Amino acid sequence: MTEKQISASIKIFDSASELPEHIQTLMNQAVEARNTAYAPYSKFKVGAALSLENGEVVRGSNQENASYPSGLCAERTAIYAAGANYPNQKIKVLAISATSEKHDVTEPIAPCGACRQAIAEYEQKQDEPIQIYFTGISGKVICVESLLDILPLAFNNKFL
Ligand code: THU
Repeated sequence: MTEKQISASIKIFDSASELPEHIQTLMNQAVEARNTAYAPYSKFKVGAALSLENGEVVRGSNQENASYPSGLCAERTAIYAAGANYPNQKIKVLAISATSEKHDVTEPIAPCGACRQAIAEYEQKQDEPIQIYFTGISGKVICVESLLDILPLAFNNKFL
């Protein structure tokens, strides 16, 4: 038996004002995207904005459904929109911001497991990592240099 440690590096910014200017701009777009969330059930609104290598920004927000599992998270809405509309453009950075009508979201909200799997697919597809920043309504922002930092032992198409 061998025991191995799995480690990942994350960067924690005390506030969005510490982010590089172009990331602040992208995060502001994620904040704006929250306004397009359709979240009548959870009241939890998530906005995502991703930048492509050609400089275009694609936004997404969570879209819920009375049949709950039919809804989709903000991150996948954005990444699938990018895949559908810009299939040959690499995704460079993804910014995510979450808010709730029920309580203050002061902790950074990391993408859910299903979104991590979906984002991992696009890193694989483009053979390049996607830098990810996530936050709540204020306070700390977490940055990872690759989705794989938050999805160790990821399943991927090499296993197929
Ligand atoms: N949600 C996201 O949009 N992204 C995540 O990574 C976590 C959860 C959405 C899905 C649902 O509409 C609401 O937040 C509550 O789970």
